[in-house]
Amino acid sequence: MAAVKEECKGNVKAQLAKLFEVSLKVTVPNEADVDPLIAACTGKFGDYQCNNAMGLWSKIKGKGTQFRGPPAVGEAIKNNLPTSEIIDSCSVAGPGFVNVVLSKNWMAKSIQMMLIEGIDTWAPQPPVKTAVVDFSSPNIAKEMHVGHLRSTIIGDTLARMLEFSKVKVLRRNHVGDWGTQFGMLIEFLFEKFPNFEDATETAIGDLQAFYKASKQRFDSDPAFKERAQQAVVRLQGGDEKYRRAWAQICEISRTEFHKVYQRLGVHLEEKGESFYNPYIPGVIEGLTKQGLVEESQGARVIFIDGINIPLIVVKSDGGFNYASTDLAALWYRLNEEKAEWIIYVTDVGQQQHFDMVFKAAKRAGWLPQGDNYPKASHVGFGLVLGEDGKRFRTRNTEVVRLVDLLDEAKNRSKAALIERGKGEEWTEEEIESTADAVGYGAVKYADLKNNRLTNYTFNFDQMLNDKGNTAVYLLYAHARICSIIRRSGKDVEELKNKGTLVLEHKDERDLGLHLLQFAEVVEEACTNLLPNVVCDYLYSLSEIFSKFYSNPECKVIGSDKETSRLLLCEATAVVMRKCFNLLGITPIYKI
Ligand code: ARG
Repeated sequence: MAAVKEECKGNVKAQLAKLFEVSLKVTVPNEADVDPLIAACTGKFGDYQCNNAMGLWSKIKGKGTQFRGPPAVGEAIKNNLPTSEIIDSCSVAGPGFVNVVLSKNWMAKSIQMMLIEGIDTWAPQPPVKTAVVDFSSPNIAKEMHVGHLRSTIIGDTLARMLEFSKVKVLRRNHVGDWGTQFGMLIEFLFEKFPNFEDATETAIGDLQAFYKASKQRFDSDPAFKERAQQAVVRLQGGDEKYRRAWAQICEISRTEFHKVYQRLGVHLEEKGESFYNPYIPGVIEGLTKQGLVEESQGARVIFIDGINIPLIVVKSDGGFNYASTDLAALWYRLNEEKAEWIIYVTDVGQQQHFDMVFKAAKRAGWLPQGDNYPKASHVGFGLVLGEDGKRFRTRNTEVVRLVDLLDEAKNRSKAALIERGKGEEWTEEEIESTADAVGYGAVKYADLKNNRLTNYTFNFDQMLNDKGNTAVYLLYAHARICSIIRRSGKDVEELKNKGTLVLEHKDERDLGLHLLQFAEVVEEACTNLLPNVVCDYLYSLSEIFSKFYSNPECKVIGSDKETSRLLLCEATAVVMRKCFNLLGITPIYKI
């Protein structure tokens, strides 16, 4: 069998799959399109496993096959495998699992190549050029709550994973800047500040409080309610005075949101709900022409198979709603922005809304049936809970202010640094930037490490612990690796090109294998939109590194394997930094 040439980089699982694909075609020519099922394994038989034999057997048995059972199919798959420098040896176990032991030389060479060519050569290659990530998306004048914090953190990570994969990402802040609530708010503010247009941000102050007060007025005072409703009509009709007030309110909120984004180092481009207003009538008309829109109790709706409530696209008063805007936004993203993957990050409570919008888009033929691209995905997440197991709130039961949360995380990290004596050693600036990195990193990591669908409990003590699966532990671990390299006094740039990385000892090989699995892990995280997969990987990487580093047989500085082991340290630091980068966490280099 001819050798299959493979580039010495990237995704091990994908490269093995290529080899097994060749073998499967030869082994069972009549089942030409079987997909290789390759999984990493930790058993004593190998590093990876091909699990096709059993499934194939069930397809071919009794149809005149020469094989006498799954183990024989496995044996043939093994024998038909093209020769490759990736594989050291193969064996068949149990009911036909083909186990692969990777070649140590190839592993070492691949890692060194990554060091030379950069970690970007290990990036996933999703089948799309442009994606929209719709995230954060708070509502003007309402509170930006912990749910929006989750959306901001998760959405930023997803955007980063796609950007790393060379996808052009349109980071969209779908701000709630339109709707009937503006009528009551503007009317209330006009009453309070007769010269509203001259009022400064500080005079208007806390928009949320005015929003609440105006809502109360709306519910209790029919005359006010009447005026508020007229205000909506004026605003939507383009009345100058109302438009200006609206724009001013949006601007004040924007400044508040921006403070949070700046702290978190997240950038987004605002295209709020109002941006899509001009597109709604045309989109609804198009859907109507296609025969998708029906009358129901005075409203115009789209019925969706399998869901018993219809999607209302025009309310009975003729107005548009959240769903109308989302349909227009989806249309715009597909047609004007040419996005092939549109990802929405909100709490799971909105799952049905998106499910309906996406199904309507499929009915309209905007999106293909099934799971093909162009694709729309809803990334749902659970609640953030307080210590009492209820929705996270501060003592006075007001919603938690995000900025306060971030302040506290930072202050606690700073206190921990001072306690470690860094106050005397470091400059004020070093303390500040490290406290920023650790504090904000801790908040992000505590969120990202959970499967996003599960609720999690917000706990400062836990997230700022320097032991266990926390950002603090991981950031310190990275800083320690950097300090090993510094203490060696060697120039890694030179070692990368002139030295040789080898994987002799078991602990070195285990570390090497884990490093090599970075590419497939990030690909999985990216395909399934699951940041926690990167967190799990990062945590186990630092555990495996620590096993290697604390083994006296793997001494780094001063040993005869110093060059190779320093390169392993460097590779670990590079991969850890990339993980931090994907998670939106700033690494630290000393501790
Ligand atoms: N503003 C909404 C909220 O706070 C989230 C918007 C999500 N994006 C969208 N295209 N609907 O719940």
